[in-house]
Amino acid sequence: MTDLQQTPSARQDAGRSVPWWSDAVIYQIYPRSFADADDDGMGDLAGVTGRLPYLAQLGVDAIWLSPFYVSPQADAGYDVADYRDVDPLFGSLQDFDTMLAAAHERGIRVIVDLVPNHTSDEHVWFKEALNSKRGSRARDRYIFRDGKGGHGELPPNNWQSVFGGPAWSRLMEVDDGSALGPQWYLHLFDSKQPDLNWENPEVQEEMISVLRFWLDRGADGFRIDVAHGLIKEEGLPDWSGQAGMVEGESPTVEATNIEDEEQARMGGPEESDAGRSPMFDQDGVHDIYRRWNEVLAEYPGNRMLVAEAWVEPAERLARYIRQDEMQQAFNFDFLLAGWDARRMAKSIEESLNAASSVGSPSTWVLSNHDTIRHTTRFGLQDPTNFPKGVGSDDEQPDEALGLARARAATLLMLALPGSAYIYQGEELGLPEHTALDSDVRQDPSFFRTQGAEKGRDGCRVPLPWHSDAPGYGFGDYAASDAGPWLPQPASFKRYAVDRQDGIAGSTLEFYRSALAFRAEYRLGAGILEWSPLNKPGDGVLSFNNGSVLVFANLGTGPVDLPGDHSVALSSSPDAVDDTRLAPNATVWMLPEK
Ligand code: GLC
Repeated sequence: MTDLQQTPSARQDAGRSVPWWSDAVIYQIYPRSFADADDDGMGDLAGVTGRLPYLAQLGVDAIWLSPFYVSPQADAGYDVADYRDVDPLFGSLQDFDTMLAAAHERGIRVIVDLVPNHTSDEHVWFKEALNSKRGSRARDRYIFRDGKGGHGELPPNNWQSVFGGPAWSRLMEVDDGSALGPQWYLHLFDSKQPDLNWENPEVQEEMISVLRFWLDRGADGFRIDVAHGLIKEEGLPDWSGQAGMVEGESPTVEATNIEDEEQARMGGPEESDAGRSPMFDQDGVHDIYRRWNEVLAEYPGNRMLVAEAWVEPAERLARYIRQDEMQQAFNFDFLLAGWDARRMAKSIEESLNAASSVGSPSTWVLSNHDTIRHTTRFGLQDPTNFPKGVGSDDEQPDEALGLARARAATLLMLALPGSAYIYQGEELGLPEHTALDSDVRQDPSFFRTQGAEKGRDGCRVPLPWHSDAPGYGFGDYAASDAGPWLPQPASFKRYAVDRQDGIAGSTLEFYRSALAFRAEYRLGAGILEWSPLNKPGDGVLSFNNGSVLVFANLGTGPVDLPGDHSVALSSSPDAVDDTRLAPNATVWMLPEK
């Protein structure tokens, strides 16, 4: 028996009918912005350890940490230079071990982020490739190609980077004497994130070895970054679309009919006038995950893989969670459904059906480090719109409306069967920072689009823990010149943990109650049955999960609640007036005894 099997978290599995991850509430930690234990302005692993009591009290089953590996931080750590070590910014391997042991002590599992699609250009492999000739073994670990044009001066194909600009960069400084001049390398993201060549067995073996490194240390699972991107279509054919993270299509792909318009707005992939994307969701990726599944199965404790795959429709996404592949996939369709009862109902229905068709549970998520926080999205005039970042010149959200809707959407989400993801700070109702100065922005998408996209910094602002401390207590800055790596908006004072802890009706207490109730009634392991009251066309969503009746009002006027049930939990304190539910609110109800 290993140490891990003896942890309380592992023991809690005893007697359960489902593996822990199938109904888990998983809290996403963005390490640089969660808590700063060494007061240098950057969050760290010791900060996570220090706040585990807070997370235990919140009632989460697991944490997922965005990358903390050695990295030049060109994409906030999603550009990994060493997969087997912690960046000094965030601490050390010892800090990781301490954090993991302390989390397990409290029954909290730990999921780490694996970035297999690309490395940093400062990874030892890429440096070696730069110093090697075309056709060499070192070059073959990445996707190097000769350019087009008489002297190779044009990129090998027309692909665009997800962050804007061409997906190819040329090695200007390296010329091995060929008439075609220096080669080009592919980067679906920033030029400092060269794509690995997943057809190369050495790449495949290396990543399995990385998996084992963290499994051996006790990691309970992996969130697989860009899981749909590893294999590219043979021949790297030109493509007239542009793959995005949230938005699937570039504005240059004209929508020619309603379905295309829907596709363009809903984002995700890849089927458009331009045809399927040659860089995403290729069938070959599944062979990789089948092997990884076997590796995880060698370890005790129900380790898991969760795919970050912006793939649609739901049936395509479900292929990632077939029984011999990953355990979960992020269900971005629900996140993209906006504040629209019909789309939400459709998304719930399709997600549950697709997942169950392969015998897996669904997942639910409303915010993460790549999207506008849902409190802010829902406060925009068009709450189904997904801007790529918000700046001070853009429409500013209605904060109160956004928060009411965010809490209502959260209560809806937490009642759905499956596993739910919470992004750090949403339990405080934190809004996006919608007025960051350009000179503090760090997201490469801001720079690669010359500011046309404001980027993702606004959802990555350090958390406020104490309303009256400098940096709102993100670290202890009383005696230093340091402060949070991104400025916090003044409104964060109102949202700070100390302003909400123990305060009835606060968003934090609302999340705590909802998670406790969800656990008590085993909603994550339950079954959804649409109730006769469900009328998406009128803005009402209603379903049963066990004895709990969920009722959400996404419409514009109050609606009658069923008389034979009483309200157990409500998304806002003033949502229920006698027997009517106000707009922008959700309630959980139990039958009258
Ligand atoms: C994923 C990450 C995102 C990152 C990108 C490239 O989508 O969530 O933050 O920029 O991959 O690694």
